[in-house]
Amino acid sequence: MLFRTIPLKPITLIICNILFLSASFAQKRNMIDPGSVWPDDQGNHIQAHGGGIIKQGNTWYWYGEERRRGLDTNYRFVSCYSSKDLMNWKFRGDALKLSKPDTALFDRGWVLERPKVYYNKKTRKYVMYMHLDGRVKGTNSGGYGYARVGVAVSDKATGPFTYVRSFRPLEKESRDIGQFIDDDGSAYLIFESRPTKGFYIAKLSDDYLDVKEETSFIQAPLEGGAIVHYKGLYYVVGSALTGWRPNPNKYAIATSLSGPWSDFKDIAPVETNTYNSQSTMLIKVEGKKSTTVIFLGDQWKPSTQWDSRYLWAPTQIGDGKLWVPEPKPWRLNIKTGEWVYINDTDSKIPQH
Ligand code: GAL
Repeated sequence: MLFRTIPLKPITLIICNILFLSASFAQKRNMIDPGSVWPDDQGNHIQAHGGGIIKQGNTWYWYGEERRRGLDTNYRFVSCYSSKDLMNWKFRGDALKLSKPDTALFDRGWVLERPKVYYNKKTRKYVMYMHLDGRVKGTNSGGYGYARVGVAVSDKATGPFTYVRSFRPLEKESRDIGQFIDDDGSAYLIFESRPTKGFYIAKLSDDYLDVKEETSFIQAPLEGGAIVHYKGLYYVVGSALTGWRPNPNKYAIATSLSGPWSDFKDIAPVETNTYNSQSTMLIKVEGKKSTTVIFLGDQWKPSTQWDSRYLWAPTQIGDGKLWVPEPKPWRLNIKTGEWVYINDTDSKIPQH
């Protein structure tokens, strides 16, 4: 009896603790595995396609197209996730649930794509931009004839966001959008425009609810625009206009956001079609020891959109060159800004 009661209790507790700890460790991710299923804190594949990421304090927020199965088809949804290390993401719910914003749009087939969120320090509001599109009633405009941005606001990063209005920035057709926040805090919207074909980089108004002025127009048949400011140079990345199909993405550089911009060059081996992905964003992680610029691409699966993947890869960047090496599982140290390939002992690939 004695033998049973005394030692069993603490041993049971220890076993329970070990089981509990290993379960919580098992959930913690210590790598980014480009192109794989990426589980959130609840074990579901992250649904933040065509996303946008901002940093508030030491928390990163990732917004994107919510495409999980079983969604109410009367609405379009924007998801929100948060992370402290860019590897482990907690699902914070759908930050925006939008019903058809304009009766001019056909009921079926209208889309909300590539949402981006900015935080406005003056108004203390979070302002979301999104690409709204669809067929316009009474026209032959096709599925992407509306070509507008929508704006929504919230007091909190996680929402709920309230829809405000839609418009054509600078009175232009606007399709894929990207966001860029410069080191001085200035906020810009990047939007792809036709029939001219090219990127507009446009500064947002003081309250971010409007587009104030054209900063630059880069004439090139590209979309999926992303910008990073790195060591005195601006790098813009874009993909060719091939819809969901991947293509060789390209980059150009300038010493000022207003240009002049260089010619475009490849960011990856042409035959890989950017490792089967399409540009969405470039994130700069500035740590105590190093700065890492991450290329964020979407690997679209048009007929199973919920299963579309993310290709996040550390870039080789500097002196006017930008290259995305073959993606492999990697780990980021958010504090130092350094990264390593999981299976490599050598810490870093050499810079250009
Ligand atoms: C891509 C665009 C995506 C989506 C898709 C639809 O070119 O980047 O966001 O709009 O076309 O075909």
